[in-house]
Amino acid sequence: MKIATILGTRPEIIKMAPIIDEISKRDIDQIVLHTGQHYDEEMSDNFFRDLEIPTPDYNIHVGSGTHGKQTGLMMKGIEEVLLEEKPDIVLVQGDTNAVLAGALVASKLHIAIGHVEAGLRSFDMTMPEEVNRRAADVTSTMYFIPTEESAINLLAEGFSRKNMFITGNTVVDACFRHLEIAQKRGFEEESLRNLDIDNMDNILTLTMHRAENVDIKERVINIIDALKELSDMNIIFPIHPRTKHTLENFGLFDELNDLEHVHIVKPIGYLDFLLLTSKSTLILTDSGGLQEEAITLNVPALTLRYNTERPETVTAGGNILVGSDKDAILENARKILTDEEFAEKMKNAPNPYGRGDSAKSTVDAIEQYYEAGLLDIKAPEEVMSSFTRKMTTITEDITVKDFEEKENALIHMVFDGDKMRFPKDELNIKGMMITYDSRE
Ligand code: UD1
Ligand code: UDP
Repeated sequence: MKIATILGTRPEIIKMAPIIDEISKRDIDQIVLHTGQHYDEEMSDNFFRDLEIPTPDYNIHVGSGTHGKQTGLMMKGIEEVLLEEKPDIVLVQGDTNAVLAGALVASKLHIAIGHVEAGLRSFDMTMPEEVNRRAADVTSTMYFIPTEESAINLLAEGFSRKNMFITGNTVVDACFRHLEIAQKRGFEEESLRNLDIDNMDNILTLTMHRAENVDIKERVINIIDALKELSDMNIIFPIHPRTKHTLENFGLFDELNDLEHVHIVKPIGYLDFLLLTSKSTLILTDSGGLQEEAITLNVPALTLRYNTERPETVTAGGNILVGSDKDAILENARKILTDEEFAEKMKNAPNPYGRGDSAKSTVDAIEQYYEAGLLDIKAPEEVMSSFTRKMTTITEDITVKDFEEKENALIHMVFDGDKMRFPKDELNIKGMMITYDSRE
């Protein structure tokens, strides 16, 4: 079997590293293709180093550009590689333009696609990420889904449960493994060593890069106004290149940089960043990955967004959405700093993203599909038997799997009272209302 992994940005490198590592331990060929969307050393190369994964086999160096140009160039480059390498499955991760390009190209070449971190939804179609993740889900063969909640998003859109694997998120694998290494090693980055973070209190780690925040001057001003008033905190801000450019263009960079309690540093390596996160009192971010890492490392998070495709972090109690609202940022940050009970509750929020064995479950599932011939994407050769969509309430003691076998059916949705459940094989559905496809 041959697996091709496509990645292009910092979070994809981090979240695919555990899977690349897991594949390399097994008797499987693999190639890694970097689109080159992120190219600065501190946004790309340093992560291959810190996460101890080999340099990609291909880099198509698309660089920065408009969405159309960047995605188009990626598609051209990816197609050339896939035609040459002929993998059995292509893995894409998350919601970047690499995911869109990789999924579109592979689906047209009839190569199976595995979407890692499938099913997330912000329901905000103005976000490029929402478009990308939805397009990838439409074209995928296998879905590696972090939580039951995300799996339910897919069911609600009509996807078949058969190809869904609730695996947790590989960020937990990366976090657990590398935090320990980072703790033994200590800070390496000079800018962090100079700040003497180990002896610092009240650390607020800030990251932001979302177009809908940093490209809108009014939002940036609101956030900066809140930061100015948080002078009792030590704000460490590893600045994303996009944000550096926009702050400079808006003429706001120096104003922020001049604040004594704000320390702007270059984007930092994964080990240093994990260590910094783990020592933080509070994370203020609009990053997707960081919302997940904060709850994994028991650090309260305030998310600079009005919606999130990671609602589990909010319902679990570890994350609060504050948008770019100055008052909401200040009120919640102060509460975390001064109200011990409130802060403890946030810290102790249960982690919805699994135990750190997500890469193993993902590669196990791919091997099973390969062995069962389910990665061969062929036009159907059988005349399609008719199937009807039905709904019923189950009165007998029966599991999902047994019902499906007995009725030659595929269960779609399950309602336990007014709550939708994911139809796991072993779920006893007595007393529940189900919808299902019935094959005659
Ligand atoms: C991209 C992803 C986003 C992800 C983020 C992770 C898309 C649509 N966006 O956003 O989902 O959360 O990566 O960080 O795929 N730049 C550099 N050096 C680099 C990379 C970028 O200077 O190595 C600058 C360029 O000016 C570029 C800007 O940052 O125009 C934005 O980069 P881009 O990759 O287009 O989007 P991100 O904001 O990084
Ligand atoms: N990260 C890092 N160094 C930094 C900032 C972030 O290593 O200076 C890591 C962080 O731990 C997380 C990931 O980068 O795993 C998040 O990437 P980003 O915020 O760029 O993208 P998103 O997750 O929002 O797509």
